[in-house]
Amino acid sequence: MLSELHREHINIAKLLDLLRQQLFAIRSEKEVRYRLLRDILSYLSEVSDQCHHPQEDLIYDYYLKYRCQDDQITDRLKHEHELVVVAGKELTELVEMILMDAVIPLDQLTAKLESFIVLQQRHMDFEEGEVFPELRAKLTEDDWRHLEQNWRYKTADDPLFGREVAERYRDISGSLGL
Ligand SMILES: [Fe+2]
Ligand SMILES: [Fe+2]
Repeated sequence: MLSELHREHINIAKLLDLLRQQLFAIRSEKEVRYRLLRDILSYLSEVSDQCHHPQEDLIYDYYLKYRCQDDQITDRLKHEHELVVVAGKELTELVEMILMDAVIPLDQLTAKLESFIVLQQRHMDFEEGEVFPELRAKLTEDDWRHLEQNWRYKTADDPLFGREVAERYRDISGSLGL
């Protein structure tokens, strides 16, 4: 379960790199691929917010209940999952408006895009650097078996990094050279 989440982090990191490229393009007044930007945000909301984070929440809840004396860690994680959703929604709205030819001040877009990237990156670094090692050390094989059984959505195949790339994510897949 953790190795799957770790793999997903690597995928998310690749997408954050694409977002950084677009941020750089906006700042250096080069051509910006707004559709690609929208597709990446849409993927992150579809897969990361609705599958990756709930799976982590399941583990964190279990960990908090049975193994952890310090609930600040899981509070922070859950809070950040909520922040990511809100920041992603706001950013998507801006990008959609640009795609509909609305005039949006570019520094408003770059500020939101940059803080979204920073938030995602910091959150992932915290999980990889502090939380996952802790979970690996404290949870037993029985715990993991129990968690696997309680995870209901495991059949869904990833629409971008899975066996088949969904039509709506072809552009991202091409940009990543998958
Ligand atoms: Fe997370
Ligand atoms: Fe994560």
